[in-house]
Amino acid sequence: MDKFIIQGGKNLRGTVSISGAKNASLALMPATLLASGKYELANTPDLRDVTTMSKLLQTMGVTIERNNHTLHINTFRVNKFEAPYEHVKKMRASIYALGPLVTRYGKAKVSMPGGCAWGPRPVNLHLEALKKLGANIELDRGYIIARAKRLKAARIVFSTSSVGATGNTLMAAVLAKGTTRIENAAIEPEIANLVEMLAAMGAKIDGIGTTTLEVEGVDALHPANVSTIPDRIEAGTILVAGALCNGKIRAENCNPEHLSALIAKLKDAGMKLNIGSSFIELHAPKEIFPVDVTTAPYPGFPTDMQAQWIALMSIAKGSSTVTDTIYFDRFKHVPELIRLGANIDLNENVAVVKGVKKLIGAKVMSTDLRASAALILAGLRAEGETEVLRVYHLDRGYEAIEKKLQKLGANIKRVSGEEF
Ligand code: EPZ
Repeated sequence: MDKFIIQGGKNLRGTVSISGAKNASLALMPATLLASGKYELANTPDLRDVTTMSKLLQTMGVTIERNNHTLHINTFRVNKFEAPYEHVKKMRASIYALGPLVTRYGKAKVSMPGGCAWGPRPVNLHLEALKKLGANIELDRGYIIARAKRLKAARIVFSTSSVGATGNTLMAAVLAKGTTRIENAAIEPEIANLVEMLAAMGAKIDGIGTTTLEVEGVDALHPANVSTIPDRIEAGTILVAGALCNGKIRAENCNPEHLSALIAKLKDAGMKLNIGSSFIELHAPKEIFPVDVTTAPYPGFPTDMQAQWIALMSIAKGSSTVTDTIYFDRFKHVPELIRLGANIDLNENVAVVKGVKKLIGAKVMSTDLRASAALILAGLRAEGETEVLRVYHLDRGYEAIEKKLQKLGANIKRVSGEEF
């Protein structure tokens, strides 16, 4: 297992190019199951979760070749309709195979996703929607067995805004008979990217960009090429790195419109921002103001930036509260940040962060993707050496993050191999 060794205290300067969005790719890739043929998915990030999704699709008979950041996908010979546990346990987004398989092939056997580092990750909304569309769903020894002759349109009203359930239901509805109405649909940019691809494949979807989607089912779709949107969470993580490290940095190839909630909070914290159509420049102030944050579905402040924000607030001039309303127990980073000298009180899903003068480097353990990002950011600020263990968590969702940070002047190096 790899670890990062960071010598903190370096001021960050320079420009970084943002990679494609992990959470868009993980929806666009299984969407290719909806029509046989050849696809090109451009700007696909080269990271562990994309590799896991590729392996999963290849077990179904899909061929995938990477040429730089373009995936060449061929779905002519899909002959297996199962997402086995060994892939699903590594990546919850494997559940995205369910909708396309059951609507196109009338059958799917997908392992129930396990929990993750921060607790249960239910899929009830996915299953209830597919049942409403006429699928027969059974649970058998940890597997979801779905069967359907042809799915039939329905009115789906989600009780909770769910990115995954919206994506799965969309991919099921595009080939269902009749017009499906999806209410309280997620409007995250990654879903908009999926809708863009489905429309290019011949799907008929109204209400794009709103929380109410109307999907007129068609008999067949055709392959299409699509470009993955920039990763707003990687961009946000890099910006917070600059905010923590006296930065004068520029994030390029990003979409500032996808980051409006974070941008507003960075300004409140004292950052000077210059924003273009595809870049964000950040100049950090000496003193960082404390700023309260409550996460919410898009366009609210993203839960995937909650850990990074706590890292930033740990050295603000005063106290702030960070509340996660999406995942109540997504705080595994807090005890590790405290090891670096942060002063944080956690009460259920509310973290009260009292800014400290400085953080001190230490050995810390990654537990999940965004928690690891928060530890890296804190290490970049901390005095002395920080070791972040088990960075495979980080490699799931960031393409070569240490290279991007080195480009900005960070002293961070990856040490491979030994058992840490
Ligand atoms: C997506 O996960 C993202 N992953 C997550 O990013 C992100 O944190 C999350 O959306 C919220 O924005 C991908 O897109 C691959 P949800 P997803 O369904 O779809 C509850 C990262 O760090 N819920 O929008 O699994 C759920 O418990 C990852 O990149 C149900 O109750 O999230 C949560 O409280 C982590 N039943 C809320 O809805 C369901 O059937 C939102 O979850 C589904 C979800």
